[in-house]
Amino acid sequence: MSGNLATVSYIGATILFILSLGGLSNPESSRRGNLFGMIGMTIAVLATVFGPRVTAAGYPWIVGAMAVGGAVGLYAAKVVKMTQMPELVALMHSLVGLAACLVGYASYIDTSAPLSGAEKSIHEMEIYIGILIGAVTFSGSLIAFGKLSGKIGGSPMLLPGRHWMNLAGLLVVIWFGREFINAHSIADGMTPLVVMTVIALLFGIHMVMAIGGADMPVVVSMLNSYSGWAAAATGFMLSNDLLIVVGALVGSSGAILSYIMCRAMNRNFISVIAGGFGTGGGTPAAKGDAAAPVGEVVPISAVETAELLKDAKSVIIVPGYGMAVAQAQHTVYEITKHLREKGVNIRFGIHPVAGRMPGHMNVLLAEAKVPYDIVMEMDELNDDFPATDVAMVIGANDIVNPAAQDDPTSPIAGMPVLEVWKAKTSIVMKRSMASGYAGVDNPLFYKENNRMLFGDAKKMLDEVLVALKS
Ligand code: TAP
Repeated sequence: MSGNLATVSYIGATILFILSLGGLSNPESSRRGNLFGMIGMTIAVLATVFGPRVTAAGYPWIVGAMAVGGAVGLYAAKVVKMTQMPELVALMHSLVGLAACLVGYASYIDTSAPLSGAEKSIHEMEIYIGILIGAVTFSGSLIAFGKLSGKIGGSPMLLPGRHWMNLAGLLVVIWFGREFINAHSIADGMTPLVVMTVIALLFGIHMVMAIGGADMPVVVSMLNSYSGWAAAATGFMLSNDLLIVVGALVGSSGAILSYIMCRAMNRNFISVIAGGFGTGGGTPAAKGDAAAPVGEVVPISAVETAELLKDAKSVIIVPGYGMAVAQAQHTVYEITKHLREKGVNIRFGIHPVAGRMPGHMNVLLAEAKVPYDIVMEMDELNDDFPATDVAMVIGANDIVNPAAQDDPTSPIAGMPVLEVWKAKTSIVMKRSMASGYAGVDNPLFYKENNRMLFGDAKKMLDEVLVALKS
């Protein structure tokens, strides 16, 4: 393939990637978005492999690497459960970071096309910055994987003087950067490069260890953004325009997503990165008076739930992580269909961080064929709860916790939540009184107009459906 054809293919792939991102912003166009992404990636790989920079001697290596990578990817896609997706994504980000580091070292010791003067300095700066971003992404993503999979505790590790330590690390990295650029030989430059890599690895570990369980969603999207910048840095090192553009697309879209998630959780982005927010998943946090549960919980049966739904004119369903665990979305759809046929105004309220990854609930509901037009964002229907007869919470907890509004000392204080307690009756479907991801107690359960339907969401909803139809 000629150089010109490869360039044209790269431009085509870039356009397809942009169209893909555009498509993924809406559930209705997301399939098309995915298709554009797949076609773009196929063109990109083919144009690179058959492009002018790869010789025939490289083909066996490329084919071997693709076979191993493809097999691992295929296996992971088959065995990984939807609820394990965030940790898999974190692991994948770590590979992008590792690749940036390896490419950086390889291009530093590669002497096949010697550079001089300003060109050499710029190339070395690209290498230094590329390895820096790659190493932070690599170690940070591994820690994120550990935290999300429960292999590392969720509580923030707050070292004394941690901000000063980070600042000192940054200054050392800048100083060694100067040494690296001024080095006269590859051997001389290796020491500053290795010292910087070690500091960057430690910084990545420290940064994510300092972030509490409740703020992990932001970390995942932030590392997604870092992996994009690491890919862009790799593109600079390899002088590959497509990698630069694609890296920048991933980097900036990840940054926008982090910002959106910070807003959804009422967190300041800088504070999240500085660490110390959130608590360990599973351990109830210190509570203020407003969060202290009062009264008793009132259990309800599946048959009684069906009676309430039969009498309701308007219903809002709030799905959460438990619906994903129980794989209850198909029964949810059956119930929705039945109630809609009976003329009930039924809608879904989706919190931006419901479940364990962005868009988790939308994916499940789309899979179960719930119509898009009744699936609303939190802001679109939060004011409608007072006019709602039944708010049915399916396996959700943190995202419907009134303590976020009432208790300034709560770890989730200030996070916008779905105000289900304002409905005439709210029904919470979960297996026990256990806390959710943020590890905080939920005063909603004790409210007078709240009922608890205890049990696995799928099993209970099956029973509700049978009772509705009888
Ligand atoms: P959670 O607050 O985690 O609550 C889920 C509830 O589902 C649990 O309290 C659990 O109670 C219940 N549950 C589990 N398995 C169940 C089953 N088989 N049947 C019925 N109920 C079941 O979930 P949420 O309300 O969706 O909130 C999401 C939380 O995850 C937020 O804190 C958010 O910050 C965090 N997070 C979000 C993301 C993204 S990007 N969405 C990523 C990481 C973390 P029982 O054990 O009593 O059943």
